[in-house]
Amino acid sequence: MATRDDRLRELGLWPRWTRRGESAAAAPPAVDVPDGAGGASREARIAGLGWESLAADVDACTACGLCRTRQRSVPGVGDGAADWLFVGEAPGAEEDAQGEPFVGQAGRLLDSMLAALQLARGRNVYIANVLKCRPPNNRTPTPGEVAACRPYLDRQVALIAPKIIVALGKSAANTLLDNEATIGSLRGRVHAYRGVPLVVTYHPAYLLRTLQDKAKAWEDLVLARRTLQAATVATSVTPVAGSGP
Ligand code: URA
Repeated sequence: MATRDDRLRELGLWPRWTRRGESAAAAPPAVDVPDGAGGASREARIAGLGWESLAADVDACTACGLCRTRQRSVPGVGDGAADWLFVGEAPGAEEDAQGEPFVGQAGRLLDSMLAALQLARGRNVYIANVLKCRPPNNRTPTPGEVAACRPYLDRQVALIAPKIIVALGKSAANTLLDNEATIGSLRGRVHAYRGVPLVVTYHPAYLLRTLQDKAKAWEDLVLARRTLQAATVATSVTPVAGSGP
């Protein structure tokens, strides 16, 4: 039977990672900026976008105040027809500078988690965030920002048509599942987002601080893989003519 250290090795987490000094700046109070870009008609327009126009649209978006503080928009990265969709909260400083999600320390851990599943960024995997622009000082997204950005995530889900979504952390899970539940209560079972099976796990940044939960994250990824495999088997079984009721 695999030991805890074996699982950590599979996650690329052995020898144990230590966190380089990272001081969390005090978050300013959240301020919602009204959606200035046209409610239902904007949603309908975004729902019709293709990949290229989606990225350009995100880049030109002024639907919330984050467009004023971002350096670059961060639409997402990966295989546009992936089976796996990983969703985080919002870009941080490095993502804001590079225009790609999960490129900082948490992203390196995410890459290790993907490798443990024999996956890689861009190979049957798409990585996105709930928010496409960085909140100043990495503060928690406001409900207004989440609402303004959701049409983009929904369009990504529709374009990718993933077989499994992995929500990384409480914020992404609560947004996608429209609840306030704790990670602990959401883990270990399969939820759904717009008809796609969804599994909740810890955010990689949390795992960098909380070594003891890395084994649980691996259990979550195994559940996600099992769910995907079951979905693949179910859709590849074609009914035999005349075998129905
Ligand atoms: N944390 C996230 O949730 N997303 C990123 O892209 C980076 C850090």
